[in-house]
Amino acid sequence: MSQPSPVEFVRHPHPAPTTPEQRTAILRDPGFGRVFTDHMVVIRYTEGKGWHDARITARAPIPMDPASAVLHYSQEIFEGLKAYRTADGGAVMFRPLDNARRFQKSAERLAMPSLPEQVFVDALDQLVRIDRDWIPDGDGSLYLRPFMFASEVFLGVKPSSEYLFIVIASPVGSYFKSKDSAVSVWVSQELTRAAPGGTGAAKCGGNYAASLLAQMEAGRHGCEQVVFLDAVERRWIEELGGMNIFFVFNDGSMLTPPLGGTILPGITRASILALARDMNIAVREEPYAFDQWRADAASGHLKETFACGTAAVLTPIGTVKSRDGDFVIGNGGSGEQTDRLKSALIEIQRCRAPDPHGWVHRVF
Ligand code: PLP
Ligand code: COI
Repeated sequence: MSQPSPVEFVRHPHPAPTTPEQRTAILRDPGFGRVFTDHMVVIRYTEGKGWHDARITARAPIPMDPASAVLHYSQEIFEGLKAYRTADGGAVMFRPLDNARRFQKSAERLAMPSLPEQVFVDALDQLVRIDRDWIPDGDGSLYLRPFMFASEVFLGVKPSSEYLFIVIASPVGSYFKSKDSAVSVWVSQELTRAAPGGTGAAKCGGNYAASLLAQMEAGRHGCEQVVFLDAVERRWIEELGGMNIFFVFNDGSMLTPPLGGTILPGITRASILALARDMNIAVREEPYAFDQWRADAASGHLKETFACGTAAVLTPIGTVKSRDGDFVIGNGGSGEQTDRLKSALIEIQRCRAPDPHGWVHRVF
């Protein structure tokens, strides 16, 4: 991370930042994604000129022409990662280079320009540094949201010739309201999220727009999240609206659906795979059918299921509902292996355990 960034950042600090008293009150119970820090990073892209005009400025609304391409054709991608406060008063991010690489892949799929990895990580570093007082203590973290959208003013359908890359930050607690308990999920057997050849593996806003109706259906059935099945056979479990999924069997072995272009290659998923292998847990990346999930839960062959992602960390799934009826996983609460993997991950993320894979990036 020591190469100089090809982009120079100009700093315009907030003229009237939040007072320490206001911030303390906000940080007491931030929830998820509702409150924001004082600053943002903005970098412009123009065809022929490349990335330029990199600024760290007061967070403010973005003036937008009503014909901006993103408002019509949704050429938009984003990322999500967290910064953590460390015991020595410093700050770290978890695997930001992997987010930078996934951002490049998403950009490629959406016919957008590639942002150099170093610029992506530098932008995050700069924002975490200027808004360092916003990183919550304890279990909280600073959720970082880099995103890029088409800003050309033009109604023809083509890749935009202008883009804005922006990073904002939000102090967060737990994603789910019930912090330590298992969540219920609704299996969507009609609405799908991503088809082969589509954008499922990209982190683009459109995928989330497409998931909302199924998420609403989940809510109507009293579930926190929706599980999507494959779009071809409506049989194979893919992922949740905003998380990947793992299954734990009674012999301790684990399974997660393979990356086949229709699910997001989660960085938490990749980390769990590596941690499981470090712990000598047999783990397979193989298709798993919804029917099999139900049968294995009933027979006791399946012991645990958990969702994983930056926002959710590891969240146990206790109850599964669908139009064909409900079933419970294990005792309906968290499981031993889920807890073990969750704490192994959190200890590394927060610099309380050795980091053999070199995942932790120190900001200061
Ligand atoms: N799947 C989807 C659809 C997501 O939105 C996310 C969250 O970013 C994940 C999986 C998990 O990815 P990660 O672990 O990189 O946060
Ligand atoms: C994340 O975990 O970063 C996501 O983007 C998921 C979303 C549900 C907040």
